[in-house]
Amino acid sequence: MWNPIELLHEGAEATVTAGRWMGKPAVLKMRRARGYRHPDLDRKLTRSRLSVEVRVLGRLQRSSFPSPALFDCDVEESWILISRIDSRPLYEAISDGSVGSETMEDVGALIRRLHEEEISHGDMTTHNILIDSSGNLSMIDFGLARVSPELEHMGLDLQVLNECLTASHSELEGAVDSVVRGYLDSGNDEAGNVVSRFESIRGRVRYHG
Ligand SMILES: Nc1ncnc2c1ncn2[C@@H]1O[C@H](COP(=O)(O)OP(=O)(O)OP(=O)(O)O)[C@@H](O)[C@H]1O
Ligand SMILES: [Mg+2]
Repeated sequence: MWNPIELLHEGAEATVTAGRWMGKPAVLKMRRARGYRHPDLDRKLTRSRLSVEVRVLGRLQRSSFPSPALFDCDVEESWILISRIDSRPLYEAISDGSVGSETMEDVGALIRRLHEEEISHGDMTTHNILIDSSGNLSMIDFGLARVSPELEHMGLDLQVLNECLTASHSELEGAVDSVVRGYLDSGNDEAGNVVSRFESIRGRVRYHG
């Protein structure tokens, strides 16, 4: 039923393979043990990351949030099979100069939408946001997500993205301001609270970092 075609990503914790499942473009994400951790702890961590990813993907699918559909999974065997999104990482699109401030506002609006679903991401980098050739965005990689997050977790999503933009995409001027603008644009009072928390986390990091 699963026909692997190409290796997409060999990460620290997961091997991601693209292929087809029941004729549909699909992605197999297989988590693997990390040598340096105790095997019991390792299994526990792997299982919890995988089960949160499964839970979050299911929730997002029900609310038509742009993220992969969950096709199949086996938490004991440490894999999930999801739909393949015909997009590339935002990281690449920014690096080759095809992203402007409007797209970064869309990124802010997308993060806000995720938070409105009462989910925080936990690893909001430009590798985990995908963009297609028409500029449509989607989000992947929910192994560190939280359901019913606290304000701090939502503020941290903005801060992790801010750090990523500063470290990897400094050529994109005012990028984080565009993200914040987009985030506030689509939201209500709660959006303002998250942005205030982000500003205070950012201030804390500036002062101590
Ligand atoms: N559903 C998908 N459709 C298209 N591409 C995908 C999909 N899922 C993952 N990818 C590609 O594979 C890469 C890695 O996937 P993902 O982010 O889910 O794994 P990871 O947990 O970051 O791995 P690591 O262990 O390195 O942290 C993504 O950055 C993206 O390029
Ligand atoms: Mg990732």
